[in-house]
Amino acid sequence: MSKPHILLARAVFPEVVDKLRAVAEVQTNPDDTVWTSAELIERLRGKQGVFTTGGDRIDAAVLRACPELRICANMAVGYNNFDIPAMTAAGVVATNAPDVLTETTADLGFALLMATARRLAESEHYLRAGLWTKWGYDMFAGSDVHGATLGILGMGRIGQAIARRGALGFGMQVIYHNRSRLGPDLEAQLSARYVSKAELLEQADHLILVLPYTAESHHAIGQAELSRMKPTATLINIARGGIVDDAALARALKERTIAAAGLDVFEEEPRVHPGLLEVPNVVLTPHIGSASLPTRKAMAHLAADNLVAFFTGQSLLTPLNPDPRTR
Ligand code: DGY
Repeated sequence: MSKPHILLARAVFPEVVDKLRAVAEVQTNPDDTVWTSAELIERLRGKQGVFTTGGDRIDAAVLRACPELRICANMAVGYNNFDIPAMTAAGVVATNAPDVLTETTADLGFALLMATARRLAESEHYLRAGLWTKWGYDMFAGSDVHGATLGILGMGRIGQAIARRGALGFGMQVIYHNRSRLGPDLEAQLSARYVSKAELLEQADHLILVLPYTAESHHAIGQAELSRMKPTATLINIARGGIVDDAALARALKERTIAAAGLDVFEEEPRVHPGLLEVPNVVLTPHIGSASLPTRKAMAHLAADNLVAFFTGQSLLTPLNPDPRTR
C-alpha cells in the first residue's frame, strides 16, 4: 500500500521528521518559512496529514482546497488556529498537544509575574545603559509577589499549576474566575477561592490570564476591565493575543492606571502594538510560554505521535473532534 503524504508546515526537530518518515512521505519546510494561506494550500494539496504550529491556520478555505486532508496535528495546546466545526463537517481530525507543556508554561507565567512586579527588565536596561551610578532608596521599587493576592482568569490545567506555585511557593491568596467553577476538593487542594470576574479585577494584586482564545474571550480585558483594576496591579498574559485589547493596555500603562504588565502573547503576532514598545512598565517576550527544550520536544513528539497513530490505525492520543474512522 502506498504511504500517506504529510506536510510539516514549519521546521521541527529532525528526530520528529524521522518518526513521521517511518510511516509517510513527508514534505518539510527546512527554511522554516511562514507561509501565507495560499502558499500553505499549494503545498497541502494532495496530502492527507499536516503538522501545524499555532500560527498555521486551517479553515474552511483550506479544507475546501485540500479535500484529501484527513488529519491536522497541532504542536500547541491552544487551537484557535483551527476551525473545528469546519474540520468536523469535512471529516478532518484535529489534535492538539495538551499536558506536556503545563508546568513549563506555568513556570513562564510565574517568571513574567516576578519580572513584572519586581521591574527586572527596566532595571536591567538601566544597568546596561550605564545609568547606574549610585544606589537609591526607591530605585526600581516594585511590588511584592509573596503574600499578595493572585488573580487567575481561566482555571484549566495551566491556571491550576500557577495557583499551586502561588499558594504553596509564595504564600499568595489565590482567587480565580472561570467559565465553570472547580469542585470543592480541587479548590481546597489549590487553596483557590472562586470570585466573579468583577471581584477578580478589583481584588487581584497580580492578574494572570490563562484562558483559551474564543469569540467570547476576545478583548476579555479591555478599557472597562483595566479601569476596574488596582492602580498598583500587574497584568500578565500568557494565554493568547486578542484576549487583551493591546491598544487599551498600552494607554493604561502609559497613564499608569495599572502599574505594569508582562506579556508573552499579542494581538497581531509577531507585530507588537507600538504603544507597548514605548512604555517602560511592560515586560515583553515573544510567545515563549512552552519554550523549554524538553517541553518543545515533547509537544512535537505528541503531535507526530497523533499523526503516526492515525496512519497506522491506532487510537488518537489527544483528539479535539470525533474521529471519522470510529464512526
Ligand atoms: C500553545 O501550546 O498553545 C502555546 O501557546 C504555543 O503556541
